Amino acid sequence: MTHFLDINTTDAADLRAMIDQAHAMKQARADRPRGAPDDAQPLAGRMVALIFEKPSTRTRVSFDVGVRQMGGQSMVLSGQDMQLGHGETIADTARVLSRYVDLIMIRTFEEATLHEMAEYASVPVINGLTNRTHPCQIMADILTYEEHRGPIAGRKVVWSGDGNNVFASFAHAAGQFGFDLTFTGPATLDPEMCFIEEARAKGVTVEIERDPAKAVAGADLVVTDTWVSMHDAQSARERRHNQLRPYQVNEALMAHAKPDALFMHCLPAHRDEEATSAVMDGPHSVVFDEAENRLHAQKAVMRYCLGV
Ligand code: CP
Ligand code: NVA
Repeated sequence: MTHFLDINTTDAADLRAMIDQAHAMKQARADRPRGAPDDAQPLAGRMVALIFEKPSTRTRVSFDVGVRQMGGQSMVLSGQDMQLGHGETIADTARVLSRYVDLIMIRTFEEATLHEMAEYASVPVINGLTNRTHPCQIMADILTYEEHRGPIAGRKVVWSGDGNNVFASFAHAAGQFGFDLTFTGPATLDPEMCFIEEARAKGVTVEIERDPAKAVAGADLVVTDTWVSMHDAQSARERRHNQLRPYQVNEALMAHAKPDALFMHCLPAHRDEEATSAVMDGPHSVVFDEAENRLHAQKAVMRYCLGV
């Protein structure tokens, strides 16, 4: 069974092959209408379940469109509308769904839910975001960086803001793709050290720098994300905003990066909070290419899982 649960638990050569295949598939359908099928139909006859226990725009639409372009069929399921949201166990849900569908993508809260789904499903399971990681996003981000600037290996990536689930998958990717990573944010919102230590053990430099201007110096890529994630308590909003305000990505901060540095944000963005509109819409920004590349990267992830 080939699940796609996290970047650190997927073979580095397989990750590289997925990025390269995503790039090739994107090229092959350039200028086609979004709804046009791919020439190759590797998912013909396959059924994919897309389960959401949290809101989504990009993940939901890009997976759905990707399945259809590859000739498969998909169903989008809200966790709340399933018995899953009313007490049926994850294990039973996994066993039942495996009798109907060929592949399961789930966006959920606890990482344990994802792992239980993978343990009891007899079909592959893809992580569409948990409180702890967001691997599909970072596959799209690697594809986006490399399309614009070539190999990401050896580059300096700087994360400014909350040490959250998207940062965690960046740390996994640093180790697997061989780029250096600097985290800048308040100590109270540091990432779990295990993500940093694991990347360091793979030979890349991962630093924590409290001064955002120093952190961004020489950056090839600057990344941020919302200050309040879907799993964070709304009651913590004001406190988090106060702590994170010095880490806003604005033009003054971007001026410390390399002149040709890229800016990324997984979206949805809260404009003029974690990043200003001037940066979001400015010359460094590739946020909409990044959003598009969810589609292409995940098509390769699905093919990897299904071995097609
Ligand atoms: N970036 C991302 O995962 O967006 P959605 O929450 O809209 O799926
Ligand atoms: N960190 C954000 C990412 C959203 C795509 C969240 O978990 O809400």
